[in-house]
Amino acid sequence: MSLPAPAPFRNPRAEFNFIGRSCSITGVGSAVPERIMTNAELETLVDTTDEWITTRTGIRSRRIAAPDVFTSDLAALAATRALAKAGVSPEDVDLIIVATITPDMPFPATACIVQQKIGAWRAAAFDLEAACSGFIFGLEIGQQFIMSRTYETVLVIGAEKLSSIVNWQDRNTCVLFGDGAGAAVLQHRPDSHGLLTACLGADGRKAELLSMPGGGSRCPATTKSVADGLHFLRMDGKETFKNAVQAMHSAAKEALRRCALDITRIKLVIPHQANLRIINAVGERLGATAEQVFINLDRYGNTSAASVAIALDEAVETGRVQKGDLVLLVVFGAGLTWGAAVIEW
Ligand code: COA
Repeated sequence: MSLPAPAPFRNPRAEFNFIGRSCSITGVGSAVPERIMTNAELETLVDTTDEWITTRTGIRSRRIAAPDVFTSDLAALAATRALAKAGVSPEDVDLIIVATITPDMPFPATACIVQQKIGAWRAAAFDLEAACSGFIFGLEIGQQFIMSRTYETVLVIGAEKLSSIVNWQDRNTCVLFGDGAGAAVLQHRPDSHGLLTACLGADGRKAELLSMPGGGSRCPATTKSVADGLHFLRMDGKETFKNAVQAMHSAAKEALRRCALDITRIKLVIPHQANLRIINAVGERLGATAEQVFINLDRYGNTSAASVAIALDEAVETGRVQKGDLVLLVVFGAGLTWGAAVIEW
């Protein structure tokens, strides 16, 4: 079967892709730890209140993984669910990409550990690091392999155990983050345009805004680096906030422009779930209605690379995204990094 008659939007991939093969998401899945940490529980750990957290961030609870559950466990569970929904067996996966800032360990790649856990023996596997933007970076990389006919099936996973790098004594950051994973199976489907475009960006001049200084070659682990708290996530909240709104808005606008789409044509905007005020500001600037914008950060907080993947899975599961709908994903994270993608579901 060939692609349907020209759709009332522009498909930049079809125009510029001389190979002419589209890439669709054929299955999504997610996994979050069972344990729910409420704002009330955080009140017992740091000098904060449910009222402050709710009004400043929109977060009411987050999921926290048990000590013996690692990023790869959450990733493997999300991947297994996504593969089941796509009707694909693990042996058919050609490539596994895991986007994460909380790998099980610096090396080997968490993607290799996931490969072992799900039994995807034929797959190549690697990690990518674009912080909270990682899932869209993964989609874009994965779709290049599908488009070029290098691979038939690519598994893209965003997975985090942020509770392992959060300073539970720092009220500025510990209230914001949670653990979880989301996964997508990428394949060619002749009857769908799939991923229409992805705009990615980065600005290393602002790397200091959001980082974990310790543990790399610049600052290897020492007794002093641990005592100084260099192995915890650090953030300049206000500057990060401003940059997030600006970058997410312009990336989303550019993605829509490339597809000759007006925001009214988008069924659902799925933004990175970092702060309700950021989401609202981006939604307003884009002219999206409240119904068009997907929100689940009240239950999960910021799960970094897993955020839009979990949200996409929930949106599909609850019927808010259906076949043929146009979906706009938009993300922002440390690096700085950002991105937006338009998908025909
Ligand atoms: N509970 C109570 N008070 C808190 C608090 C908490 N959990 N965290 C910070 N505060 C205090 C601050 O210490 C500050 O007190 P001060 O005025 O006495 O110094 C006050 O609240 C206001 O802090 P401010 O930084 O002005 O708050 P804000 O409105 O900027 O909100 C964030 C803070 C972190 C919620 C917000 O900046 C944010 O969400 N930034 C983006 C974070 C993000 O998305 N990061 C990930 C990007 S992928």
